[in-house]
Amino acid sequence: MVRPDLESNVQAGQKKQQSLPTRVWVAPATLLKRRRGYLVSDVFKTVACVMTALCIFQFVWIRHLQAGWVRVPNDPFDIRFNDDIKWNSPSIWDSSRQAFIHNAMPVPVHSHNDYWRRIPLFEALGSGCISVEADVHLRDSDLLVGHTSLSLHRGSTLRSMYLDSLQRMLDTQNAHITDGTWRGIFDRSPQQTVVLLIDHKTAGPETFAELDVQLQPLRDRDYLTYWNGTDRIMRPITVVATGNAPFESVMALNASHRDIFFDAPLHALLSRYDNFDVEPPVYGYNISNSYFASTQFKNGRLWAWHDESSPQPDTPGGRDREASQIEQAKARGLIARYWDTPSNPPNLRDIAWRVLVDVKVGILNMDDMGAVRARARGWGQIEL
Ligand SMILES: *[C@@H]1O[C@H](CO)[C@@H](O)[C@H](O)[C@H]1NC(C)=O
Ligand SMILES: *[C@@H]1O[C@H](CO)[C@@H](O)[C@H](O)[C@H]1NC(C)=O
Ligand SMILES: *[C@@H]1O[C@H](CO)[C@@H](O)[C@H](O)[C@H]1NC(C)=O
Repeated sequence: MVRPDLESNVQAGQKKQQSLPTRVWVAPATLLKRRRGYLVSDVFKTVACVMTALCIFQFVWIRHLQAGWVRVPNDPFDIRFNDDIKWNSPSIWDSSRQAFIHNAMPVPVHSHNDYWRRIPLFEALGSGCISVEADVHLRDSDLLVGHTSLSLHRGSTLRSMYLDSLQRMLDTQNAHITDGTWRGIFDRSPQQTVVLLIDHKTAGPETFAELDVQLQPLRDRDYLTYWNGTDRIMRPITVVATGNAPFESVMALNASHRDIFFDAPLHALLSRYDNFDVEPPVYGYNISNSYFASTQFKNGRLWAWHDESSPQPDTPGGRDREASQIEQAKARGLIARYWDTPSNPPNLRDIAWRVLVDVKVGILNMDDMGAVRARARGWGQIEL
């Protein structure tokens, strides 16, 4: 029979094993143990990697779902400006596409970091935004558009992306006007100005000086809103400087033709130049030097504030100090804007917008042009 044989073999093996000096067998046993250890750690590592990858994927996916970019079914903009159209495609100047832009319903919305849009400038205007933002970096005496200094390209300049395009559009809009009036971008509201908010990312005074030079062609055509010494004269484009731009640079411009305005600090509008002893009061930030007044949403004071323990303010200065930021901006003739409003989840984002509309903010800061187009008329409640 086989079995006894086997047994005897095993026994023989065991006997053999036992008969061998233990020293010889120590090494393979530890090796085996170590190998098993490697195996366990390999499996563990693989599982950990897969789990991490899954977590990252899930995180990205949830972010993607939450970002909630609004897609409008059969969006007329997306149909006309399909994926083949870039900001520098010659076909963007086709009359049908330009007519679409000029026909947009203007809404009090600011296209935040506009150069991130699929088609900078054109998408914002085609969605009815009355304000667009470009971050500029001074490089080799030119202004390059981009968020950080690492994301700059030689071809993406303020001139090529914004100034030249605006000039070309306005030249067409004003080609047949001879009576000294002007026509802006939006045919439905021809006297509506478009704000170009220039966020200075590099040294303030130098960047500002270069901006001042680059605006000359628009200035020569009388396309820029300016302060003439006694009045603010509205034109199709209003240039507003923000970021590192110094207030002093704005004030240093020719006081009888000042055509770059400041983005005043909405959380700190009270200034040492305010004078409440005259009627009406004189404010340091006013329409002669500023256009927007902006601050981060988290610094917002959306409602009037009063310290219960002190008496009601009965002076104009006291009342101004306790007013909401939006009221303070209005008193100064400025448009209040909050940036960094919550962007997701979408319901929180919408609540923030609704509250801002309710308290009559001047302009909404938005990134999602699909949402602007989908609900354009919904934002029309704010006075333009
Ligand atoms: C500024 O413009 C207004 C309105 O056009 C005009 O009445 C006023 O005289 C101008 N001021 C100066 C200093 O030119
Ligand atoms: C300031 O602007 C006025 C009006 O455009 C012009 O007459 C004057 O020469 C300018 N002054 C300077 C110093 O550029
Ligand atoms: C605007 O503010 C400046 C100081 O920042 C002041 O000199 C000027 O008088 C003010 N102008 C008006 C129209 O209030």
